[in-house]
Amino acid sequence: MHKHASCTNSNESRGHSFMSALNTSASFVMTIAWFVVALFCPGPLRAQLGTTPNIKHIVVGRCYNYITLVNPSLRHDCEDIWRHFEKAVFRQSFCNVTVEDYHKMFFAMPQTWPCDRSLFWSKTRTLMHSYAAVAPEFWTLEDTLVGYMFNDLIWCGQEEDSGFDFSSCPEWSACSDHPVYSLWRQASQNFAEMACGNITVLLNGSIANAFNKKSMFGSVELDSLSPQRVDHVNIKVVANLEGPFIESCTEGSIVDLIQILQSRGFRWTCTDNDQILMILQCIKNPEQSSCQTCVNSLIHRKSPTFN
Ligand SMILES: *[C@@H]1O[C@H](CO)[C@@H](O)[C@H](O)[C@H]1NC(C)=O
Ligand SMILES: *[C@@H]1O[C@H](CO)[C@@H](O)[C@H](O)[C@H]1NC(C)=O
Ligand SMILES: *[C@@H]1O[C@H](CO)[C@@H](O)[C@H](O)[C@H]1NC(C)=O
Repeated sequence: MHKHASCTNSNESRGHSFMSALNTSASFVMTIAWFVVALFCPGPLRAQLGTTPNIKHIVVGRCYNYITLVNPSLRHDCEDIWRHFEKAVFRQSFCNVTVEDYHKMFFAMPQTWPCDRSLFWSKTRTLMHSYAAVAPEFWTLEDTLVGYMFNDLIWCGQEEDSGFDFSSCPEWSACSDHPVYSLWRQASQNFAEMACGNITVLLNGSIANAFNKKSMFGSVELDSLSPQRVDHVNIKVVANLEGPFIESCTEGSIVDLIQILQSRGFRWTCTDNDQILMILQCIKNPEQSSCQTCVNSLIHRKSPTFN
């Protein structure tokens, strides 16, 4: 088990990566998170929620919001995207929507994004939201048009009828190709294929299998990253302040990840206890003993500027 670095004595060795932490990464999976939860929660035939009410208004509204306010350079046809989405979901048996069924929809919403900003994460959703809030320039899946439009939504068609099933949708595990899973799978693949320059991967050091080969990162994104396009894979392992400290850059599944990266010819770095991420945790939980040094040293450093 590694020791938690304090704020004043961080084991961050690459000086500027402290700053680049601000400039890159962070929330690629609000969406992924819920389905990772869904994938790995051993819920035996729990009743699932049905399609999110008002889904059409939400999806089309988010699309217009995105192309009008978030990224006005895009010239996509939101109604057309919706039509392709409906066709993909309605045309198939309700539990059998493949990634191919979504291809026309993805074709109608091409998007490129800048290098050095992609953030991938697994099992660090809450922290990622904080990270995203302080470092809005990094790109996560939710910052892409498709991620933005479908974040946190549920949908499925009906067996006979054409239309959504608003009363219940099947479990992931019950379907050969779940309509929600297939969309995110393709979206994640596209996101990873586009990644270039330096990318950041945020993993949870407080759980076993922080790098899970069944997660969207481990099963789809990692395989879609190109060693030719990606300069460095910068891994950040972040544990809860109060522990447990189970995995780190030198312990557990992260070592496997590093081996995979190395064998594929990626350059990589790995940091335990990134300062920014630790400060973000301390803001939510200042009473933690590991935060006291941090707070004191920050007050100390800042005081002259208030004089
Ligand atoms: C699922 O879709 C595939 C390809 O579209 C088809 O061959 C298969 O019969 C379908 N299965 C069910 C249960 O509908
Ligand atoms: C790590 O995972 C646990 C269990 O899912 C979660 O409670 C915790 O908030 C996560 N820690 C971080 C730093 O994301
Ligand atoms: C990419 O990451 C490496 C290793 O952390 C660093 O040396 C390099 O300066 C980074 N490049 C950019 C453009 O951030």
